Amino acid sequence: MGLKGYAVVSALLLFAGGAQAQAIDPTMGGPGDPAHGQVLFKARCAICHQPDKGGKNGVGPALYGAYGRPATQSGNGFAYSDKLKASGVVWTPDKLNQWIQKPASLVPGVKMVLPPVTAAQDRADIIAFLKTQSDAKDEPAADKPKAAKKKKKTTDS
Ligand code: HEC
Repeated sequence: MGLKGYAVVSALLLFAGGAQAQAIDPTMGGPGDPAHGQVLFKARCAICHQPDKGGKNGVGPALYGAYGRPATQSGNGFAYSDKLKASGVVWTPDKLNQWIQKPASLVPGVKMVLPPVTAAQDRADIIAFLKTQSDAKDEPAADKPKAAKKKKKTTDS
């Protein structure tokens, strides 16, 4: 489909156009603003990702519930790369912060290519928005896998 092709091409062009030596900035600006994050998401991510509950896979996987859960565990049939599947990454704010700057710096060989989100506050806003697009009410319990999180494995069979 033409629109998706355009997205990939323009992402690649932008990527090639000066971001090669992009260093990873571990900071994240202030507290994220989910409303601004939604605007940024539409501009920078929505061409490949649907964020809403019940959203469908596109070039990238549907992202509802990605915040706070282990990578690739959407259970929605998306063909993730073997690298991401084997990564053991949990989508904490820190990991998302790194991912949307330079996915390959987190997991070499992944399939997601995007123009890096360079402004720390923009990253915080996008992450705050992703948090609203999940059932996570608190910070992800990355180091407490047995935390009493609401079980919502409805799509796993
Ligand atoms: C050009 C298409 C494209 C764009 C633009 C894009 N992504 Fe992705 N994204 C992907 C693909 C493809 C994957 C799967 C990567 C893999 O399997 O290695 C992915 C994976 C992800 C994942 C992991 C999902 C999971 O279930 O583990 C997150 C989180 C994510 N993207 C967030 C974002 C955010 C936030 C943005 C915007 C700043 C963005 N992506 C922009 C294509 C894209």
